[in-house]
Amino acid sequence: METAAPTGGPLDFLAIGLGPFNLGLACLTEPLTELRGLFLEARGEADWAWHPGMLLEGAHLQTPFMSDLVTLADPTSPYSFLNYLKESGRLYSFYIRENFYPLREEFSDYCRWAAARLSSVRFGQRVREVVYEDGAYTARTDDGTYRARRLILGTGTPPYLPESCRDLPGDAAHNSRYLHHREELRRKESITVVGSGQSAAEIFHDLLQSLEPGGYALNWVTRSPRFFPLEYTKLTLEMTSPEYVDYFHALPAATRERLGAAQKGLYKGINADLIDAIFDLLYVKRRRGPLPVRLLTNTALDGVDHDGTTYTLHLHQHEQGREFTLDTQGLVLATGYRYRVPEFLDPVRERIRWDEQGRYDVRRDYSVDAAGTGEILVQNAELHTHGFAAPDLGMAAYRNSCLVRALLGGREPYRIEKSIAFQEFGA
Ligand SMILES: Cc1cc2nc3c(=O)[nH]c(=O)nc-3n(C[C@H](O)[C@H](O)[C@H](O)COP(=O)(O)OP(=O)(O)OC[C@H]3O[C@@H](n4cnc5c(N)ncnc54)[C@H](O)[C@@H]3O)c2cc1C
Ligand SMILES: NC(=O)c1ccc[n+]([C@@H]2O[C@H](COP(=O)([O-])OP(=O)(O)OC[C@H]3O[C@@H](n4cnc5c(N)ncnc54)[C@H](OP(=O)(O)O)[C@@H]3O)[C@@H](O)[C@H]2O)c1
Repeated sequence: METAAPTGGPLDFLAIGLGPFNLGLACLTEPLTELRGLFLEARGEADWAWHPGMLLEGAHLQTPFMSDLVTLADPTSPYSFLNYLKESGRLYSFYIRENFYPLREEFSDYCRWAAARLSSVRFGQRVREVVYEDGAYTARTDDGTYRARRLILGTGTPPYLPESCRDLPGDAAHNSRYLHHREELRRKESITVVGSGQSAAEIFHDLLQSLEPGGYALNWVTRSPRFFPLEYTKLTLEMTSPEYVDYFHALPAATRERLGAAQKGLYKGINADLIDAIFDLLYVKRRRGPLPVRLLTNTALDGVDHDGTTYTLHLHQHEQGREFTLDTQGLVLATGYRYRVPEFLDPVRERIRWDEQGRYDVRRDYSVDAAGTGEILVQNAELHTHGFAAPDLGMAAYRNSCLVRALLGGREPYRIEKSIAFQEFGA
């Protein structure tokens, strides 16, 4: 059993979960000798990969390589993506490629490379419970106990399934497990992909590419009115900025709620090049003969039956108000990811600030503790309070610089930009 800091008192912080956000924080805190902290990750080091079920060949990041773990906070850090390329002997190839967007597999390898160089990371430590005793938090894993004065929650956004699709019999899968199911899916007579975010589009494209004459029927169903693109124009990208977060956070909660729904196209939606690639592939394949492919918009999935082999999807064309069904053997639910408050926090719930909807009431400095001392901080759990930049890798270095400042009581070893945009967001 590992017991952190058995003699030296509690650590300064314990960070729970090692996705890119806490991993970036681990890279930035590694050189800060005045901070004693540990990062606890549930998965084992050998199993760790970034979205393993979605490591499709050729899939790439939607944010440029500068949105790596450290660069926007500290371009001189040894944990940069460019240093990873240099050490892996691929820096010149990346340079000649003249493409800012790393491959997803490459980014996953980069994260593993960085984690392996850090002294503060502990793999295979799923936090089961956190309690508060004697002025510090104790986190218990299956084989360790860790104590610290502060917590940083970075457990990510788990896969989300609509109510009607939970506990389905058969082998229906959320897209986060797509690669584990791909071979089995390709042997089906029919496959349906539900949803029209980037994940759904990548999977539809992948299945379309491998569709041979006489092969499976392929359906793509979305309740959105169209297969809309992720907006990616430069003045809109300025909204992923410290000052837009300031602006959004200061708005009344009801306005934030309204904006959150209206801003879907700024962080969801499909890469425009991928939409075109799908169309072009449909064009090529259809020219050769009948193509058993259907794309349905405005169509919500209301319910699912399963007879042991085939799923019957109960669909609802909501503009026409018409109900209909679609039979499919394979089912991929690309229905997104949502934050869930981890159960391990149950014993310390009264130490956290909650809003009326039972979500964290996150302060501008990313703290959620009721005491107001900054003893519990969050990563990627503040979509409703800080806006759509919350899951954006490009804003991770900024948020981590703010978290470092909070951990150091106001000192800023990584200079924090206050405003970067040409435009003004408030009156
Ligand atoms: C396929 C995909 C591609 C994406 N690509 C981009 C992109 O290109 N650009 C961009 O800006 N955004 C992208 N995103 C959005 C976002 O940046 C990522 O989802 C990112 O992984 C979020 O990081 P995270 O650190 O919050 O959590 P996660 O990556 O989800 O990691 C959370 C970690 O916490 C661990 N954990 C959970 N519970 C416990 C526990 N009890 N104890 C210990 N550990 C625990 C988990 O094992 C996991 O490793 C993408 C999202 C997806 C799904
Ligand atoms: N290349 C990349 O870098 C990459 C790849 C994948 C994901 N990502 C990012 O990761 C995040 C998640 O993307 P994602 O594609 O997994 O999820 P997403 O963008 O949240 O899309 C989820 C889809 O599921 C639909 N849906 C949800 N509930 C439904 C229901 N009950 N019935 C029918 N449809 C339902 C949604 O429809 P509504 O829109 O109607 O809610 C939406 O089309 C995004 O920020 C994305 O940009 C990036």
